[in-house]
Amino acid sequence: MNQLKRREFITLAAGAGAAVLTGCTAEKSRQTLLDHSLAEPVKNRFPIVLSSNENPFGPCPEALEAASRAVFNSSHLYAREKRDQLSREIADFYGLNSSEILLGCGAIELLKIATDVFCSARKPPIISYPVYEAMDYYAGLRYIGAERIPVKTEDAGHDLMRMLEAAYRYEGLIYLCNPCNPTGVTIGKERITEFIDLVPEGVIVVVDEAYAEYVGTDFFSCMNLVRSGAPNLIVVRTFSKIYGLAGLRVGYCAGNEELIRAMAGHRLWNNINQAGLAAARAALENQTWLEKMRRENELTKNYFCSGLKELGIDYIPSSTSFVLMSAGRSWEETHSYLYLKGSIVAGRKIPSLPGHIRISLGSRGDMNHVLSVLKDFQSLSDPKNSGVVI
Ligand SMILES: Cc1ncc(COP(=O)(O)O)c(C=O)c1O
Repeated sequence: MNQLKRREFITLAAGAGAAVLTGCTAEKSRQTLLDHSLAEPVKNRFPIVLSSNENPFGPCPEALEAASRAVFNSSHLYAREKRDQLSREIADFYGLNSSEILLGCGAIELLKIATDVFCSARKPPIISYPVYEAMDYYAGLRYIGAERIPVKTEDAGHDLMRMLEAAYRYEGLIYLCNPCNPTGVTIGKERITEFIDLVPEGVIVVVDEAYAEYVGTDFFSCMNLVRSGAPNLIVVRTFSKIYGLAGLRVGYCAGNEELIRAMAGHRLWNNINQAGLAAARAALENQTWLEKMRRENELTKNYFCSGLKELGIDYIPSSTSFVLMSAGRSWEETHSYLYLKGSIVAGRKIPSLPGHIRISLGSRGDMNHVLSVLKDFQSLSDPKNSGVVI
């Protein structure tokens, strides 16, 4: 083969390959939707992992196609321009400048950077307890003990008053998770706006909105406060949850230019990969899919929670894609029973709520199965006599 023919051949082969690949992935995505209908036989998919709040439907078909194309065409290239394009598109989406956006290898990278940049032994992160553990963990790696403020007993929400007091004492960084993982509780517009206004100068507030899109139109996003120029605020979002791209690792945060610049120097160079960038851009564009995901999640949540109610199992009403429940026994008993009897992997232990367990919302079939295993569990007088070794 001469040089030209070779090149033509490679281009043709690549095109054909891409067509097959994209056709496959779009088809797979459609199948995924069907796979998760109520009629699905769950026995083929054991274990059922309901511990990480992943979207059971996966991303929209366009995102899968875009990612496949990017793998095929751009795997050998660093993703320079596409990074900037995604930053611009996210900025446009929220009415911000791209200098106010920073992309991360998932939201987690941005939470780590915020801890590294804004916290020290004298300025510990002030966090709710329990809350998503990233800040506590990354501060711990640097021997910084986070200031943990127990959630309020009446509604399992953040105790904002006590967090504010702590901010005056430590001048640290305040981490709010809204809606909160693991409680599923949301902080409303008035309370969060007033809180951010009252935070002393020099204290940064990081608001993690990883599950914001699940809440619906009545959610007040702190992106609004970034847009109106709040000087001390970072809002973190992710493509891992409702957009269904946890495996491709794209997150972002927004804040004023100065804060974003301070954080940007600490990101890993080329922290976002070609497939993730392409998929995230396509996913952001398809807000119809996102709305569909939100509605599906809402239906599954209502179905699951009415099942829990019928079984007499307590749960905290959730605005998210998971439910924190208490079957009246220890986490160890519930977790082991679900796993050993139902091949269900539920969330890890929450030390401050030892009788609770968090279950991610999977497909309707998954949740049906969880309810039937919980029904057996509830009927046991003592799970230690169930034949299951706990
Ligand atoms: C509240 C919260 N923030 C951040 C993350 C991390 O998301 P990512 O996959 O974007 O790193 C998670 C993941 O479960 C989460 O629950």
